[in-house]
Amino acid sequence: MRKKSVSSDSTTKAEISVDRLTGRVITRRGFIQTASAVTAGTILTQRHLAAEMAHSGTENMVSMNLTINGQKHQLSLDSRTTLLDALREHLDLTGAKKGCDHGQCGACTVLCNDRRVNSCLMLAASAQGDEITTIEGLAKGDELHPVQQAFVDCDGF
Ligand code: FES
Repeated sequence: MRKKSVSSDSTTKAEISVDRLTGRVITRRGFIQTASAVTAGTILTQRHLAAEMAHSGTENMVSMNLTINGQKHQLSLDSRTTLLDALREHLDLTGAKKGCDHGQCGACTVLCNDRRVNSCLMLAASAQGDEITTIEGLAKGDELHPVQQAFVDCDGF
């Protein structure tokens, strides 16, 4: 982008940029307006989905059997429930964290059949028949898993 300063009609200086690909002029105000509209749209969409899930009643309920840390659990959850929400909100396993909720930060990582997965991107219903291991299930009794021990030894956060 190329930037230059120009005077607008109201005699104040405004910084504008020209998009080299499209040739369109982008003003700071235009950029902020677009960013605000996108943010508002995202928030409204998330609220709409949350409200829809809250009012869906038993319409989307699915009975599922999950094996978490070697224990079998039978749950009846909305079919759209992520594995992360099932762990945290229905099984009180809060070791996996909800960071970005978009598969980018890794705070929700669990093992699924000994392979790491982002539980925020995985539906709980699709984990049926899999062996899920959370951070709570790594230790063997009082003996910490080497990764847990490394966090303790290095004051890991
Ligand atoms: S919460 Fe960030 S990757 Fe899942």
